[in-house]
Amino acid sequence: MAGPYGKTAGPAINVEDHLAMSGAARFGAARRIALVALVLTPGTALAADAAAGKAAFAKCQVCHAVDAQGRQTLGPNLHGLFGRKAGNLAGFKYSDAMKNSGITWDAETLARFLRDPKLAIPGNRMAVPGEKSAADVANLIAYLVEATR
Ligand code: HEC
Repeated sequence: MAGPYGKTAGPAINVEDHLAMSGAARFGAARRIALVALVLTPGTALAADAAAGKAAFAKCQVCHAVDAQGRQTLGPNLHGLFGRKAGNLAGFKYSDAMKNSGITWDAETLARFLRDPKLAIPGNRMAVPGEKSAADVANLIAYLVEATR
């Protein structure tokens, strides 16, 4: 089944994820540090690109609003996302997996979730494949930091 991302989502992707995990664990710490640096130091040569992130968010906007009015669409409104506990917005019916994830959203937890939603929170209902590159994730987060304030 081809999703809105034009990519086939299925069991084969899971297998790849698991095969890639040992590598991900090895590089995880370095990547986390790099990502946080990308997000927290705008204006440097490595700065994440919020404009590119805004463009990338077009595909998220099908399901998510970011406005302060708290408008809900297919997914929870993302206003005030940073520092918020996952699955905690009143009036949105989350999966138990999201509600019980114990996650608080910050650059690090978002990066992990957006890179691979299924792997980060098994059983959650956000049915999208992860972002292909760490740069795409960093750009999205740079945009979200501004847009969800
Ligand atoms: C097809 C609809 C859909 C798309 C597209 C989508 N999401 Fe979601 N998203 C959801 C749903 C539904 C949930 C709630 C999942 C649950 O309860 O398990 C969610 C949850 C979230 C959460 C957690 C919010 C909270 O209140 O804890 C974040 C953050 C998020 N999405 C970001 C994104 C971003 C960024 C994108 C684009 C890369 C995206 N989503 C694309 C439907 C979608």
